[in-house]
Amino acid sequence: MSRIGSLQIGDCRVDVPVLLAPMAGVSDLAFRLLCREMGAGLVCTEMVSAKAIYYGNRGTKELMESRPEERPLMLQLFGSDPELMGYIAAQVEDGPWDILDVNMGCPVPKVVKNGDGSALLKDPSRVESIVSAMTRAVRKPVTVKIRKGFALEDECAVEVALAAQAGGAAAVTVHGRTREQYYSGRADWTAIRRVREAVDIPVIGNGDVTSAGDALRLFEETGVAGIAVGRAAKGNPWIFREIRAALSGEEIPERPDAAEIGEMILRHMKLELSYKPEHVAVREMRKHVAWYTAGLPGSSALRRQVNEAETAAQLEKLVRTQIIKKANQA
Ligand SMILES: Cc1cc2nc3c(=O)[nH]c(=O)nc-3n(C[C@H](O)[C@H](O)[C@H](O)COP(=O)(O)O)c2cc1C
Repeated sequence: MSRIGSLQIGDCRVDVPVLLAPMAGVSDLAFRLLCREMGAGLVCTEMVSAKAIYYGNRGTKELMESRPEERPLMLQLFGSDPELMGYIAAQVEDGPWDILDVNMGCPVPKVVKNGDGSALLKDPSRVESIVSAMTRAVRKPVTVKIRKGFALEDECAVEVALAAQAGGAAAVTVHGRTREQYYSGRADWTAIRRVREAVDIPVIGNGDVTSAGDALRLFEETGVAGIAVGRAAKGNPWIFREIRAALSGEEIPERPDAAEIGEMILRHMKLELSYKPEHVAVREMRKHVAWYTAGLPGSSALRRQVNEAETAAQLEKLVRTQIIKKANQA
């Protein structure tokens, strides 16, 4: 018996209320598939610029690549012009995703300078206009992802979440840090709780979940309907099977051993290769291998070798000889 129920976002039912948080440069199709397999209930694309879709930029096609097995899937858009956001929402609505999410938390200066991402936290009425333009344009649920506030000590999450709700948002994800904190300091779960108490739509809590124990605590301390896990999933899709077990009151599975890590890296690479050119897939895998192997004996030497690998065959050989074979000999 699950201690925590499923998550309903508009007409989209999410059986396990644990999301892979969107992460640019990390949560691509390959990684999302692995996280779904490991137990994430919902996954989200990397953020995609509404303007880039409008102008038909080539890079966006790869970001929007998807497979039926990963659904339910959230497509995350960023932009701040209500009219354009409504227009793009309608253009992409029939794509292979179930929910359209709007990024209102990205702290990167280039994004904020354009009035996008976390800049929207300073303008709740625009938040309402964006969400309302989108919900009028599409039938699929529209959600937003916000932060606790903009300036270091600021807290505007309740006001922004209420604006999103007024615009018709079906759920809100709250990262318990301000824009100026970026990713430093601790996420403030009390701010997440205040949003949960203020709105009627489901709230998804986010920030600093690094274990199944953290996941349970975030649910318990805030009363949220769902949680989203970001950085702790990098090189660690197993975190989802652990959280899933904890939510069902089952014993938490053992951490993966080196052989299992090696096999996961090979699967990850195969998935990357199935839709990206080899040189791109190998480049992507270099960072993933560093995350997967952090903490394993000899990981820094392996990282150096992996960074010199040019082909998938070279990378595979390294994983087989340096991780899997060694693990099986130990
Ligand atoms: C490398 C990286 C990329 C990110 N990209 C996005 C993004 O595209 N959209 C978004 O809403 N949040 C993005 N985030 C924020 C995460 O979704 C999440 O809110 C944040 O990392 C806090 O959660 P965590 O403590 O579990 O990592 C990114 C975070 C990181 C570390």
